[in-house]
Amino acid sequence: MDDVNDLAHKKNKVDPLLYCALDHSDPEITLKLAKSLIGSVDGLKLGLEYFCKNGSLGIDSLSALSIPIFLDLKLHDIPNTVAGAVKSITPLSPKYLTIHASGGIEMLKAAAKAAKEESERLNKPRVRLLAVTILTSLDIRDLELIGFNESPPKSVAKMANMAALSGIDGIVCSPQEIKLVREEVGNELEIFVPGIRPKGSQKGDQKRAATPLDAVRDGANALVVGRPITESKDPAEAALKIKKEMYKALFD
Ligand code: C5P
Repeated sequence: MDDVNDLAHKKNKVDPLLYCALDHSDPEITLKLAKSLIGSVDGLKLGLEYFCKNGSLGIDSLSALSIPIFLDLKLHDIPNTVAGAVKSITPLSPKYLTIHASGGIEMLKAAAKAAKEESERLNKPRVRLLAVTILTSLDIRDLELIGFNESPPKSVAKMANMAALSGIDGIVCSPQEIKLVREEVGNELEIFVPGIRPKGSQKGDQKRAATPLDAVRDGANALVVGRPITESKDPAEAALKIKKEMYKALFD
């Protein structure tokens, strides 16, 4: 996608995207699944489980399929270290990379600057940065124990504002917070949402799930869906069904 299209996507003027989370560490299983999903999803999300085992070669083998890669590494460290990690990742050319919003505004700014400078230096596409807000695995009690004294929605709103001020491209939040984030930052940020469950599918460990239809209606730019696709008998068909539901939201 070029920059003009990226902007259109940010403004929710183009189709919402579907990224499939390939949460597996085995490179062969992951590659097979990835191949089966070409044409049915807009991109593949790979996380720590895969990256820690397979490293950059593992990413290259999936990039060779010419499908956008979302590298979900949730970086969180001092600004200089995160900037260095962003630089190290740039040659891999993932479309998206996650960093933790709770790393603070200086860390977010350093990451954004590093992504821009390194892409220019290497003449590579700039990796788009997504700030992860409050993990959906944390409830209000967990947050209190860490020392966060505000409710998850309030913290998410603050983090979204901070990300928008830092040159970050988007955020990851729960489906419950999409509307709130849109109110806070308008169309400044792309909104990526996990915790998606099509009607009739198993919720698994996702406690506050939303349907693809509702998430797109609320203003999500991209949905991240794992098990409802990967554990289906026919992953490509399951993905296409979800895409159909996402499009429905654009027409009602
Ligand atoms: O299988 P499922 O659809 O639940 O997968 C969702 C994906 O989104 C997983 O890769 C999970 O790690 C990720 N995720 C999440 N909740 C968050 C952030 C990321 O489920 N708050």
